[in-house]
Amino acid sequence: MTAVLKAASVETLYFDRIRALCGVSLEVSAGEIFGVLGPNGAGKTTLLRTIAGFLQDQPEKGTIELSGRRIERRKPEEIARLGVVYVPEDRGLFRELTVSENLEAALWGRRGQPDEIYEMFPILRERRDQQAETLSGGEQQMLAIGRALLRKPRLLLLDEPSLGLAPSVADGVFAALQQIARGGTAIVLVEQNARIALRIAHRAAILESGRIVLQGTAEELQEHPDVREAYLGIVAALPQKDFRLHRRRRRW
Ligand SMILES: Nc1ncnc2c1ncn2[C@@H]1O[C@H](COP(=O)(O)OP(=O)(O)OP(=O)(O)O)[C@@H](O)[C@H]1O
Ligand SMILES: [Mg+2]
Repeated sequence: MTAVLKAASVETLYFDRIRALCGVSLEVSAGEIFGVLGPNGAGKTTLLRTIAGFLQDQPEKGTIELSGRRIERRKPEEIARLGVVYVPEDRGLFRELTVSENLEAALWGRRGQPDEIYEMFPILRERRDQQAETLSGGEQQMLAIGRALLRKPRLLLLDEPSLGLAPSVADGVFAALQQIARGGTAIVLVEQNARIALRIAHRAAILESGRIVLQGTAEELQEHPDVREAYLGIVAALPQKDFRLHRRRRRW
């Protein structure tokens, strides 16, 4: 089966000299949630913006395929037309428009019904006549995802959807993402919350300084001692005496 997204050896530069992505390769299939974890400045947002075509003349090197079709260095609107939807960290809402106006704007005259979004997020129906900027963080995230869904994405790129949300609210958003993936959409989920991301992702990659230092199934990453220590905050039991007493060096 052809991957929905296939990025190979992607390199992205800012101002022709700041190398933000360095040889990034990954594949995401239909219905799969692929997590991207990593510290601040690792290049997570740059990866999503590169795929979505928002960085002019980037990637500098490498290829990006959408269902077998090359999309690197195309215009963002062209990439969007092919079914790639990017939800930025700031959620990209029309702040002064109401909930229903935001949803209608996302339809752009296409078929599709805000009702399906209200079914997924009933609170949005209650808030339908309220301006987007007056919504809570969680409601704004639901609206951003709702807008993205109305565009029937083949590939959904999400930048830190849980940012600023209470855990219970984030859980609701993540449950919705799982439902969306079950419908066949491929999802790239950039997350700072590794614990929750690894719970819903099928596979994931750790990005550090523009490189993928580790990639595998969510289970593999959850079991990896370095991931446990650096991302999940689980410190391994103290080594036995006459074993290694120094702090274990990370392998990447
Ligand atoms: N518009 C820009 N111009 C120049 N450099 C940039 C630009 N945007 C990002 N960078 C640099 O590229 C690198 C990767 O940044 P990016 O925003 O992709 O990281 P991130 O992993 O999303 O971080 P965070 O977790 O803080 O959101 C950083 O060194 C950053 O300073
Ligand atoms: Mg970012």
